[in-house]
Amino acid sequence: MVANIALGILGLLVAFQVLARLAKKVFHATFPAPALIGPFLNSRFRRMIQPPDKVLRQSGVQAGMSALDFGCGSGGLTTFLARAVGETGCVFALDIQLNMLRQLQRKLGRAEHRDIHNIQPVRANAHELPFHDDSLDLVMVVGVLQEVPDPSRALREIKRVLKPGGIAAVSELLPDPDYPLRSTTVRLGREAGFHLDEASGSFFTYTVRFKKP
Ligand SMILES: C[S@@+](CC[C@H](N)C(=O)[O-])C[C@H]1O[C@@H](n2cnc3c(N)ncnc32)[C@H](O)[C@@H]1O
Repeated sequence: MVANIALGILGLLVAFQVLARLAKKVFHATFPAPALIGPFLNSRFRRMIQPPDKVLRQSGVQAGMSALDFGCGSGGLTTFLARAVGETGCVFALDIQLNMLRQLQRKLGRAEHRDIHNIQPVRANAHELPFHDDSLDLVMVVGVLQEVPDPSRALREIKRVLKPGGIAAVSELLPDPDYPLRSTTVRLGREAGFHLDEASGSFFTYTVRFKKP
């Protein structure tokens, strides 16, 4: 019985992956994840398969950093990032979809997050980041890079806004229909002019940490 249910879930996941990837190929399309997946991004199940503290550790987050949550969605990682950089740091939570940013605002309005005052939501396109050159310590890119129409351009933009020595941390999770192999992420980062600092995690959920020279 349990084995049948597990096989059913696995089958559905595989079918979803195949259909989503086929649709992308046929229509030559990249599109942002629909805002209706916002609750999943904030769910306990998501935190179980991609624990935020692990992603933050692998990304090299430190107190006092100026950080950008690039494609923050409904804020699945944003509040964890805000607590990790602390009161001396700040987090810009950037997304192209207003509906995702509204979900983040609602999350921040809940009692358990009212003590967080260092998040600034920003509505912008990943291709044109509204930040000065060499201004940020860390950019976290979780499940976003392959959703952006031109990932290489987005990485060059991330490099522009990072301080020298700043970190770009790209994390991916396999059920995401845009999931790329780790080798693809490493290649794209290097092509954009980053140094590979560390690649960690498993095949299913990994983080590649780059540094701006
Ligand atoms: C799969 S969600 C991941 C959200 C969040 N990083 C997380 O891990 O919970 C991808 C997010 O990237 C955003 N996104 C996609 N394309 C974008 C673009 N061109 N510019 C800015 N954000 C974009 C989507 O709106 C969506 O909220």
